[in-house]
Amino acid sequence: DFTHPLMVVVLGASGDLAKKKTYPALFGLYCRELLPQDTLIYGYARSHIELSEFRKKIGSYLKGDENKKKAFLDLCFYHSGAYDKKEAYDEFNKILVDAESKMVKGSNNRLFYMAIPPSIFIDVAKGIKGSLISSSGWSRVIVEKPFGRDLASSRELISELKKLFPEKDLFRIDHYLGKEMVQNLMVLRFANAVFEPLWSKSHISSISITFKEDIGTEGRGGYFDQFGIIRDVMQNHLLQVLSLVAMEPPVSMSAEDITNEKVKLLRSIQPLRLDELVLGQFVGSKDGKYPGYLDDEGVPKDSKTATFASQVFHVNNPRWRGIPFILKCGKALDQRKTEIRIQFKGPDNFLFSDVDRNELVMRIQPGEAVYLKLLSKKPGLNNTIEQTELDLSYRSRFENLDLPDAYERLILDSIRGDHNLFVRDDELDVAWQIFTPLLEQIESLKVIPEKYEFGTRGPASADELAQKMGYVRSKQY
Ligand code: BG6
Repeated sequence: DFTHPLMVVVLGASGDLAKKKTYPALFGLYCRELLPQDTLIYGYARSHIELSEFRKKIGSYLKGDENKKKAFLDLCFYHSGAYDKKEAYDEFNKILVDAESKMVKGSNNRLFYMAIPPSIFIDVAKGIKGSLISSSGWSRVIVEKPFGRDLASSRELISELKKLFPEKDLFRIDHYLGKEMVQNLMVLRFANAVFEPLWSKSHISSISITFKEDIGTEGRGGYFDQFGIIRDVMQNHLLQVLSLVAMEPPVSMSAEDITNEKVKLLRSIQPLRLDELVLGQFVGSKDGKYPGYLDDEGVPKDSKTATFASQVFHVNNPRWRGIPFILKCGKALDQRKTEIRIQFKGPDNFLFSDVDRNELVMRIQPGEAVYLKLLSKKPGLNNTIEQTELDLSYRSRFENLDLPDAYERLILDSIRGDHNLFVRDDELDVAWQIFTPLLEQIESLKVIPEKYEFGTRGPASADELAQKMGYVRSKQY
């Protein structure tokens, strides 16, 4: 309820995630006037920082009107304290209660954003539960991956958190679910009657979901090396996209019904195979401009951690049996792009045998777009065929496009109490069930990732794998 006062508590307020995502998203909501009228934001972390310095640091990540920035920063406070001491949380609570006593009267809702490393997850959750729960309003907790490293550690985390908070108060973020095009998937699929008859193995030959970044690990090497690209991106972001692309129509638009369908789909995925996997690790660019993964300070020199992975998924249900889903993700590649590419079968006639395939592409970023690759006769007196596109590029189609960041949407939904775009515990569990056996094989067999140069398409064997799976590259590529 937006008339009640809201206290947002950012735990880990001096960290990377808070600076780059949490505060800018809160600022975005503030500018759109979507935060409750009386909102305060308290940061909490170990380091001693003067309030003015803290505000300056946060401020440097905010984009927009200077007056608004200043007004927003006036709502931001900071308190330093230990993560593992009850007394520290008790003291912090006194400060919160005191601040709340000066806010408008109403239920004192509290939103806790855990922007902290996994090692202190449970300590902080216990601290919240033990000392910081609101005495008059709701208390909701936003948590963010990594939710464990494998099935066992994820289950432990889920059960520890369950002891502390009911599922309705927990909001597990996968920020890909907050992206505009990912949200559009349901509408595209189920509001357009033209697609449903085509959306199956009868007409589709393969589905590729690709995540490419043109940056390396840049200062995050220490974290990244513990997880690798499969856990960092594929197990969560790409799998979420896969389940939305492939699930059956849910019974309703409720969070529960949608998640039920996603879980059902995930449970139909067949065991992942090592011979349908390509792993890569980037080395520095030839011109010496960009460093290799092993040059990152936080990365051990003999690390075998993959920064690139391509894995084929098979969904064993009547709609998809036999159709490969090719998931690919990598850092330090030739471009930044995330897209879903649905490739259709070729024409079933004798007229046009060797033509490019129709493809429906949904570009998640950058430059959100949906386009359908079509063949057309080249206009004029000749009889040549040309590949063209029906193109719905958001920038040219929607006027004054002002897309909110994924985190804005997700924080707003947690204030509204809407779980639709958050990850349910059983969904997370199936995701780990899918990946854990593969990850264990990679580790026990010490699979060595192939080297690829910074700024390239990644290992050539990934293209070969896609081709082997029946993906036909356009001749006009
Ligand atoms: C994060 C990963 O979850 O997603 C990062 O930890 C990755 O490694 C990031 O860079 C990508 O997010 P986006 O929104 O920039 O595509």
